[in-house]
Amino acid sequence: MIIVCITGASGAILGIRLIEELLQCNKEVTCIVSQSAWQVINYELQTDAKTIKAILKNRNVQNNLLENLKEYSPDDFFAPVASGSFPFDAAVVIPASMKTVAAIAHGYADNLIHRVCDIALKEKRTLIVVPRETPMSAIHLHNLYMIALNGTSVVMPLPAFYNFPKTIDDVINFVVGRVLDLLHIEHTLYKRWNNENNNR
Ligand SMILES: Cc1cc2nc3c(=O)[nH]c(=O)nc-3n(C[C@H](O)[C@H](O)[C@H](O)COP(=O)(O)O)c2cc1C
Repeated sequence: MIIVCITGASGAILGIRLIEELLQCNKEVTCIVSQSAWQVINYELQTDAKTIKAILKNRNVQNNLLENLKEYSPDDFFAPVASGSFPFDAAVVIPASMKTVAAIAHGYADNLIHRVCDIALKEKRTLIVVPRETPMSAIHLHNLYMIALNGTSVVMPLPAFYNFPKTIDDVINFVVGRVLDLLHIEHTLYKRWNNENNNR
């Protein structure tokens, strides 16, 4: 089971697309969306949805796949994933706000998202963080350095230009594909670098 946390940084579509891809790969997904993230999701995706399931239904994800998705409120410390004794394969925070990065870096487990990240670090499980801010202050960079030192994979949501992205979807698929690479999940979301073939 993979936990996907969406926080209130710009780029909510990255989290939605990752959940979509994981479900298409028949993975079980637990999703936690922060309160700020709901404001950003509704603004950036121009929706008034209140659940990720509702958003994915609108994006034509099949009902049988949606059965593999569980959603928990960020206030729900009684959720199974709030305990280190509950197993999960990996946690991904995508996109990650600088506030959430600060909380992870300093073990300040104020909501279920921070708590899940705290557990991933203390239990030595896979933690992937996709931070979104620009420019970054020394405080942001210091916090990212701290979580990287503790074993987190920090994936900046940056496109590669060597595979000639043409649409925003190309850029989104590249970032989501790089996260899937770290989760060891096969996909065809982007063309891999191969300088012997024409990548266009
Ligand atoms: C439209 C919008 C875009 C935002 N984009 C970012 C961003 O890219 N990075 C960031 O760190 N905060 C961003 N924020 C601010 C966060 O939402 C805010 O710091 C919030 O407290 C984060 O809380 P959370 O980490 O619990 O979701 C944005 C806020 C709004 C309304």
